[in-house]
Amino acid sequence: MAIIKTLQFLLILFLSSQSFAQNEEDDEGIKRSDFPNHFFFGTSTSSYQIEGGYVEDGRGTSNWDVFSHIPGNIKNSDTGDVADDHYHRFMEDIEMMSSMGMNAYRFSISWTRILPKGRFGKVNRRGIVFYNKIIDNLLLKGIEPFVTIHHHDLPDELDKRYGSWMSSHMQEDFVYFAKICFKEFGDRVKHWITINEPNLVTLMGYIKGVYPPAHCSPPFGNCSVGNSDIEPLIVMHNMLLAHAKAVFIYRTQFQKKQGGSIGLVAYCHMYEPLTNNEFDLQAVDRALIFSFAWVYDPIVYGDYPKEMREVFGSQLPSFSNTEKNIIKGSLDYICVNHYTTLYAKDCLHSPCSNGGDRPIKGFLDTMGYRNSVSIGDPTGMDRFFVVPRGLEKTINYINQRYPNKPIFVTENGYSTPPSDGNKVEDIINDTKRVNFHRNYLASLVRAMRNGADVRGYFVWSLMDNLEWIHGFNTRFGLVYVDFQTLERRPKLSAHWFASLLGGNLQHSSSILNKNTFDHLMYD
Ligand SMILES: *[C@@H]1O[C@H](CO)[C@@H](O)[C@H](O)[C@H]1NC(C)=O
Ligand SMILES: *[C@@H]1O[C@H](CO)[C@@H](O)[C@H](O)[C@H]1NC(C)=O
Repeated sequence: MAIIKTLQFLLILFLSSQSFAQNEEDDEGIKRSDFPNHFFFGTSTSSYQIEGGYVEDGRGTSNWDVFSHIPGNIKNSDTGDVADDHYHRFMEDIEMMSSMGMNAYRFSISWTRILPKGRFGKVNRRGIVFYNKIIDNLLLKGIEPFVTIHHHDLPDELDKRYGSWMSSHMQEDFVYFAKICFKEFGDRVKHWITINEPNLVTLMGYIKGVYPPAHCSPPFGNCSVGNSDIEPLIVMHNMLLAHAKAVFIYRTQFQKKQGGSIGLVAYCHMYEPLTNNEFDLQAVDRALIFSFAWVYDPIVYGDYPKEMREVFGSQLPSFSNTEKNIIKGSLDYICVNHYTTLYAKDCLHSPCSNGGDRPIKGFLDTMGYRNSVSIGDPTGMDRFFVVPRGLEKTINYINQRYPNKPIFVTENGYSTPPSDGNKVEDIINDTKRVNFHRNYLASLVRAMRNGADVRGYFVWSLMDNLEWIHGFNTRFGLVYVDFQTLERRPKLSAHWFASLLGGNLQHSSSILNKNTFDHLMYD
């Protein structure tokens, strides 16, 4: 008895010291020298969210133009017509990145600036001129361009003609567009990303139906068209094959001469079991497989995860042998966007609502709260919580499932909660964002010490922008943007990065109470 009591006591001691260590780690400082010299620190953006200039210089109509112009689709009926006006202010924006000490920038190319009507029209040279200016000015500042070829916005023409990603014709259209990008920009762009987050496109566009083309069916949503159980499988298949075929063209026609590398981005949330019940632990595995491995297993291994093939049977499109050969290994690195950790709850052995019991959701539900307590501090996004340990776990997972691949964290960021008020001075004094990045970077360093070959980290985002359906008031930027005047003001977090990276960003504003800043830096 006494022995058992002693063991219990030791166990409790051990557990409490563990949780203490966890908190300690979450508070640790971070230095540039924790990362290799050649490590890329950058910010990330996408064309529709920042550019504006939506009818200028021959740009064609995109799916997001059409969608955002229908009142009610986006909060406050915001649109990307002007957005950050980056189309005219890109020099100032590049200067800001440079003054933060960033050595990389990830941006996307607006498909309709280059090809207003996809392959059913001419190449718009003025679009090419615009991206040439961006690329050349980045390189002048020593900033490495990471170019996403397709980040959500696509020619409306392709939606109208054949339903864009619902059709296999889209593979040909994407390859046509990608080839123009390689040809025009590949002499200077050495890091390519074919497509951004196919797993988010399927979720938001074809399961929930809240992004264009707004396809869905009950119980996931009330759309006029769509089938949430089937269409996401078809859309993913077309996106993966479009990616693979573009990589094939790059490798056979450009890579040798241009010397660049290529990959794709998927988002990966991390999950923890809602209870310690073994079914919830299995739900964690399935959550990762049905969202992330759905994208990456085909690209690395040449086929969908076996769990998905078993569940969907013949509903899951299959790859022909020729297709398997081109999709398998169609990447030089893995790019992951990571924002949050959620709880996963099994829906095979106990009831769930919201379609959690459906195959397309992996027979599971995910949530941010357990017994009304959130998994981490809330943010400006309902389902994003601050859980720094989740980044280390995500990188470990990737490195185990897909060993020895270089990894880029192509997005990680924090949106200010509305409860923090909307006074500019408070938004700019973003101590919570500083803590977010410091703690997530510390978590990333732990993953690298565990053996992952992480090559870069990109903050979402350079500046506040059109956060898709959430509009302009969900702010992820290191730089504040006044959407009336379009004035940019670096937040405390921009100064924190400048200080970490040796940038020369001037302390221009009164919010930079020096004590606050030192406290954040060296705590
Ligand atoms: C769909 O519409 C019905 C009837 O208006 C409503 O009861 C239901 O909650 C809606 N479902 C969703 C997911 O919005
Ligand atoms: C910024 O916010 C912190 C709390 O997060 C506060 O201690 C500090 O006084 C604020 N600085 C200014 C200049 O408002």
